[in-house]
Amino acid sequence: MDIKNLIEEAKKEIEKAGDLNEMDMVFRKYLGKTGAIRNQFLEMKNLTSEERGIAGQELNSAKNEIETAINEKMSLLRSVELNKKESEVVDVTLPGKKFSAGHLHPLTLNRRRMEEIFSLMGFEVAEGPEIEDEWHNFDALNILPQHPARDALSLGKTFYLTLGGLLRTHTSPVQIRFMESHQPPFRIIIPGRVYRAESTDSSHEVQFHQIEGLMVGKDVSVANFKAIFAKFLQEFFGKEMKIRLRPSYFPFTEPSFEVDMSCAICGGKGCPACKQSGWVEFMGAGMVHPNVLKNGGLDPNDWQGFAFGMSLDRLTMMKHKINNIRLFQGNDLRFLKQF
Ligand code: DAH
Repeated sequence: MDIKNLIEEAKKEIEKAGDLNEMDMVFRKYLGKTGAIRNQFLEMKNLTSEERGIAGQELNSAKNEIETAINEKMSLLRSVELNKKESEVVDVTLPGKKFSAGHLHPLTLNRRRMEEIFSLMGFEVAEGPEIEDEWHNFDALNILPQHPARDALSLGKTFYLTLGGLLRTHTSPVQIRFMESHQPPFRIIIPGRVYRAESTDSSHEVQFHQIEGLMVGKDVSVANFKAIFAKFLQEFFGKEMKIRLRPSYFPFTEPSFEVDMSCAICGGKGCPACKQSGWVEFMGAGMVHPNVLKNGGLDPNDWQGFAFGMSLDRLTMMKHKINNIRLFQGNDLRFLKQF
């Protein structure tokens, strides 16, 4: 091969090589043990001694030229790589990376907010077991075994447990439990999970949450209830909410009423969430029935009070304009991340 061509070819490849690995290949191809220069030296054995002298000189200087070019390029590439490494060094003055911390579930956030509002009005937070007995869940609340109210209140949709007991269908049994161990006057709210064998849809879940309330004293009245509730709703929704009381029936209260509020989703104009009525029922309430006070160990001649039970899920839906209760337990991060 023509030596000049060899040098030219080598220089082209040296120029093209982009990193030290590629340079290593070029080195081997031309200067390695089986490389092009070495091959040329081996072929010299067929030449006369005179020719050999000239060719040897030529080859040596070609070898030097290629070697120099390779060395130059290598040191260039080395310094480029070094610079790259230096730029990877930590810059302690840069702002830190943010942790993506978790956050609380919308139902937890709203339960806490409700607890806060009620505690500012003198209410304590009480709790009770999710596995209940028939006495506390039904009988003590004046819901007798054959009473039609068991159906009317959806309380017929009870999960009974094989080992005895049942999953509470409402938070009302905790009223009894609290009265059993406390002396009035008192004001409590009872947040908790409740269970009903429902077929689920956009407003029904098998497991949902209630906030029960009970205020007992010497002369607690419906007027107290209305005032406390107007205040609660105003604080919770951040604006005055219209409410209306409708006469109703619960075995554990007398008189009983259902409480509606103006639909927060459409502002009272009418929409699918309020079935075009402009009102949403969110709570049952009433004056505690004398039998219930008795069953809690209190003398109805000495004490009276109001009670209420509302759905935490439904109020949270109203507040955030959520149209499907199943989102709360769907674990869809696109939903949860919005709170
Ligand atoms: N326990 C009822 C339910 O589950 C709600 C309720 C109504 C609670 C009236 C009360 C009350 O304390 O006074 O639907």
